[in-house]
Amino acid sequence: MKKINVKILGTGSYVPEKVLTNADLEKMVDTSDQWITERTGIKERRIIDKSQNLSDLAFEASKKAIEKSKISISDIDVIVVATVSGDMPFPATACILQKKLVSNAVAFDISAACSGFMYGLSIAKSFIESGSYKTVLLVGGEVLTRITDWTDRNTCVLFGDGAGAMVLQASETENDVLSVHLGADGTYTNLLNIPAGGTAMQTTHETVDNKLQFIKMSGKEVFKIAVVKMTEATQKALEIAGKKDEDIALYIPHQANLRIIEAVGKRLGVAKEKVYVNVHKYGNMSSATTIIALDEAITSGTVKKGDLVNIMAFGGGLTWGAAVLKI
Ligand code: ACO
Repeated sequence: MKKINVKILGTGSYVPEKVLTNADLEKMVDTSDQWITERTGIKERRIIDKSQNLSDLAFEASKKAIEKSKISISDIDVIVVATVSGDMPFPATACILQKKLVSNAVAFDISAACSGFMYGLSIAKSFIESGSYKTVLLVGGEVLTRITDWTDRNTCVLFGDGAGAMVLQASETENDVLSVHLGADGTYTNLLNIPAGGTAMQTTHETVDNKLQFIKMSGKEVFKIAVVKMTEATQKALEIAGKKDEDIALYIPHQANLRIIEAVGKRLGVAKEKVYVNVHKYGNMSSATTIIALDEAITSGTVKKGDLVNIMAFGGGLTWGAAVLKI
């Protein structure tokens, strides 16, 4: 039987219009533009409008990706949404998106926090290569600002909202997903989580009073593991793809913190100019960061057709992953 390859047909992204600057945050919590800039590299982030939900951001990003892919919505067999901030605990935001797109695709969400897009890539690749499905719409999207404690300066300066989408399709000739490498370590679930609102700790007046429905993070510990695991995942993804640094036009790391991005670049020994940064504009958008950055790099001409890109992510779980893609 002939091998089925995976072609990337198109990407799209969408961020809400409202901008929240570090100066705005100075008025909300005991922080400063200087601290946020020096410790994270973030200058501003986008905040979703009250009238919108994640499915709306995902819809806008998906429309652009579908348009660029020159397919019709009826061509999509599967919709996968990677998110930890979906419209509802269930049903899946992918089902709500399916309705908005007027599609009849199979639809489900995946939960791998900031690594969600990497996990989604692996699922899309496997679906297509196995012959199960031909065309997959993969979305990474978050409204982290709705699961953020706006009185906690340790976390509220870090996050933003946005969504990115990619259409992948079976191809006899072109192979654009050269490798995907994933990892997870559940012994670190305590470092980054939302304690309440699941079935282990149901929502009560007490959990709400204690703000346990919001993201809790041990930033320092997460930082150290992020640097090590993103570096290792990237090296592994390159090895699986049989590629070296000189083959890679651009590295797109998860945009959580400029210091993490720089530390990973240094460990990998890659030129600073080859490492994409947009964390100053958007903050950490979890599963949306890498796909929005990739779409930006394509749209701005930072990468051109045929270039190889290495994307990598790290997040709650803890989870991590990296992939080598041909654009
Ligand atoms: N403004 C001013 N001071 C602050 C702020 C703030 N916004 N936040 C914390 N501080 C203070 C702390 O209270 C602490 O003060 P202390 O020394 O008196 O106790 C001091 O600054 C230093 O705090 P650290 O935690 O040591 O700061 P650090 O340099 O580690 O930076 C940060 C914190 C930005 C959170 C960093 O650790 C980080 O980026 N971690 C990783 C985040 C990440 O990658 N997450 C994974 C993805 S997220 C997801 O999956 C949803």
